[in-house]
Amino acid sequence: MPFNNKSLIRGTYFPPGDKSISHRILILAGQAIGKSEIFNLLQGEDVINTLKAMKLLGVQIKKKKDKYIVFGVPPGSLFEPREAIDFGNSGTGIRLISGLISSNNIKVTLVGDASLSKRPMKRVTDHLTKIGAKIELKKNLFPPIKLKGIGNAVPLSYNISIPSAQIKSAIMLSALNTNGKVKIKEFKTTRDHTENMLYSMGYNIKVRENSLYRFIEMRNNKDLKSIKYTVPGDPSSAAFFISAACLKPGSKLIVKNILLNRTRIGFINTLRDMGGNINITNRKKIHNELVADIKIEQKNNLCSTTLKSKDVPLQIDEIPILSIVASFADGVSIFRGLKELTVKESNRLKLIHQNLKMIGVKSVIKKYDLYIYGNRNLKNGAAIIRHNNDHRILMSFFIANMICKKNNIIKDKSCVKTSYPMFFKHISQFTN
Ligand code: S3P
Repeated sequence: MPFNNKSLIRGTYFPPGDKSISHRILILAGQAIGKSEIFNLLQGEDVINTLKAMKLLGVQIKKKKDKYIVFGVPPGSLFEPREAIDFGNSGTGIRLISGLISSNNIKVTLVGDASLSKRPMKRVTDHLTKIGAKIELKKNLFPPIKLKGIGNAVPLSYNISIPSAQIKSAIMLSALNTNGKVKIKEFKTTRDHTENMLYSMGYNIKVRENSLYRFIEMRNNKDLKSIKYTVPGDPSSAAFFISAACLKPGSKLIVKNILLNRTRIGFINTLRDMGGNINITNRKKIHNELVADIKIEQKNNLCSTTLKSKDVPLQIDEIPILSIVASFADGVSIFRGLKELTVKESNRLKLIHQNLKMIGVKSVIKKYDLYIYGNRNLKNGAAIIRHNNDHRILMSFFIANMICKKNNIIKDKSCVKTSYPMFFKHISQFTN
């Protein structure tokens, strides 16, 4: 099936299971009393690495047809694995599980691939050493993480200065085996799936928010109950198809069973602001998460937008695909405050800028703000895309074929397996 500037996106689409929720449900079911069942778990490599990690830490997990069955071990009783735990490409996996291990009296080494081995870990480990865990990092910054957890962790109050759900969730997971009250203050724009899941599992957690911050209080005086959980569709994966549909007047796409947690759908608001015709139906709350269907029926071309820094965490993983959308929208789009993009699976800010230039789009970086000079002319394309094995850069610049005269060249597409192994299969199903 060719995919190029003549393609329209049409059909009914079921996005794969949400990655953030898949990691968390494996970890929390792994600490719950009794048997949990998980449906629609994302089959991406990142999540499978978290699953393997939980098994190495003593949790029994079995696959039975379309479900995973998890027999939890109570907080504080993780096993000490004989070997290092390999998280592959996954920042979420390594950071969350560092938190979990930090309050268990075991010694573990956590490693990752070449990209993960260059990502900052001190943002998490600095918090975990305060409870008494002993941690060594390569060059005092990067994985491997050599971690000696502590069985009687000190309950503390944390003030998190970087808007990051991974940092917050690592601390929350360390609190599962911490006696006393743990308090966290963080930016309310970060995703709140760990909180929602803990609520659903009967844990003692209180959350309150004001206009800027979220305040979390946890006490480990109630058991974590087992759960039957169906993972909703991943908005970050669906974003490629939703954006592609908005890009092309004449596209008609129905997206079923997609997670619409407000901390995850900033990109939908941005696309609407640019003229995307997106309607939401069948809203329901399942385990404290909003799940719905959406319909895109694009009639008009898009116009430019300005994204404020404070809204970036609400669409942090969708900036690469939004930059493609902005390239084909009339006017200059400005995405402000993209510093966190420089420490993702690659330096995404740099790669977006370089690849846009290579396909024929002008963009400028001013400090951490990105200016994209968009118009409705087809771009030259025919560029060799530099993706440094970053799945989201690769998928975004594959979608860029829709706005190029000549298709771009993408060598080694294997990294899509980390978050979206079915990406190319889905592309062929929804284009005509
Ligand atoms: C994630 C949080 C985000 C996001 C990542 C998944 C999570 O990272 O970019 O893809 O599941 O908690 P940060 O928390 O570092 O912003």
